[in-house]
Formats: sequence, structure tokens, C-alpha cells
Amino acid sequence: MAKIKKHPKFDGIYYSYRGNTQAFYTKNLDVGNTIYGERTQYYKGKELRKWDPNRSKLCAALTKNARNIYFTKNSNCLYLGASSGTTVSHISDILTEGIIYAVEFAPRSIRELVQNTENRKNIIPILADAKKPVEYARYIVGAVDIVYEDVAQPDLTEIGIANCKKFLTSGGIFIMAIKARSIDVVSSPKDIYVQEIDKLKEENFEILEEINLSPYSQDHLVVISRYFENTGEYNK
Ligand SMILES: C[S@@+](CC[C@H](N)C(=O)[O-])C[C@H]1O[C@@H](n2cnc3c(N)ncnc32)[C@H](O)[C@@H]1O
Repeated sequence: MAKIKKHPKFDGIYYSYRGNTQAFYTKNLDVGNTIYGERTQYYKGKELRKWDPNRSKLCAALTKNARNIYFTKNSNCLYLGASSGTTVSHISDILTEGIIYAVEFAPRSIRELVQNTENRKNIIPILADAKKPVEYARYIVGAVDIVYEDVAQPDLTEIGIANCKKFLTSGGIFIMAIKARSIDVVSSPKDIYVQEIDKLKEENFEILEEINLSPYSQDHLVVISRYFENTGEYNK
């Protein structure tokens, strides 16, 4: 069995090597329960959940050597496109002293999210359309440190920017997974990435990192950026 170690840089993350390939794990906050059939393993008496880069774009970004993913144990996060909780659950393992506001508009997915994560007290599931941040502002207490977006919509950058302006603290981190084919099926993914990143730059986001998720998710780019202005509008 591959030897597991605590990650030297990332809070709450563990890793092992099989050959040149790095595998990632998080410490299960809901011991004995799994979310998506992931394997568990014990490390120094802790139950770890193996994080699948084929199922989670955040894990794919880590596997593709992201320099930083910015989640720490006390981060508060707004997650757009929570689905049934695959990635949300790993973030929940990491944010032991933080909160994840998990927005999802498909009733069936949010039902599964609620069932899958009922023992995880740091997740607040919100049935809402990420295009209408005003409608869920009342659930979000204060500004968040990180907005994570994975909604596969043609206007995903505009949706993300609107949410950052409303909820993200000044200097906070915006992580967006761009699915090129959801934006345009004709243009080249590279052109689409440039176009979407330009929209962020125009709105005062500093681009920190761009991570191509191939071969884990074809035609997907994770963009990590920092937002520098806050209008103070959040929580109104
Ligand atoms: C690619 S899946 C997300 C997978 C998830 N992020 C994970 O890694 O576990 C995209 C999700 O975004 C949701 N979604 C798409 N548009 C949305 C919107 N406008 N508001 C809220 N959720 C949305 C979809 O219903 C779907 O569950």
C-alpha cells in the first residue's frame, strides 16, 4: 500500500505516490460514511477519504500541480454548482472551522446533497439559481474568503463575478472551472479561456493561476484569481 503523508503546504490534505502519480486524501469529517463510493484508508488513527481527480475538478487541479488552492481550516466558502456534494464534501473535510454555502438549482441534486451531508455541520445547502445572488443573500453571514464556481453555464464568468462582488471579501479568492464546450462549441478552447480570463481582468481580478485539467476533464480550465474590490454590498 502506498505510504500516505500529510501535505506540507495544504491544510487538511494528505497525499501518497504510486510511481509518479500523486493521489490526494482528506480527513473524513463524517467518519464511517462516504459520499460517492470513494475509498477510505487509515493514517495515524484518522479515516482518510481518497479524492478522485476524475470526479472533482478541484482534485484534478491539485493533481495537475496547482501551486495553491487557498482553502484553510477556517475559510468560509461560497460554492456555486454544488451538485450532490462530491467536491463540497472534500472541502467540508478541510474547512473544519469554516462554513460552505453550497448553492445548487437542481432540486434532485440538492436533495442528494442534503442526504449525503446531513452529518456535516459546516455545509449550508441552498436551493437557488446562482444567477440570482440577491435571492440567497439572506443565508450568507458576512463576506466569504473563497468563491468556488463549477456551473457549466455559457455565462459562468458573469455569474461568478456577480457573486464575488456581492459576497467575496476584498483580497478574497475566486476559483472558477471553465468548461469550454458550455460556452461555445465552435471556438477553440484556448480562445474561450482567453476571452473569459479577459472578463475577469476587466473587473479587477488578478489572475494567479491557470490549470488545464486534461486528461481528468477534457476542455476544462481552472482559473484561480484574487478579487481586489468589494463594494460592501454583501449581506444587504
Ligand atoms: C459540473 S456539475 C458540478 C459538480 C460539482 N461541482 C462537484 O465537483 O462535485 C454542475 C452543477 O451546477 C449546477 N448548476 C448549473 N447552473 C446553475 C445555476 N445557475 N445555479 C445553481 N446551480 C447550477 C448543475 O445543476 C450541476 O449540478
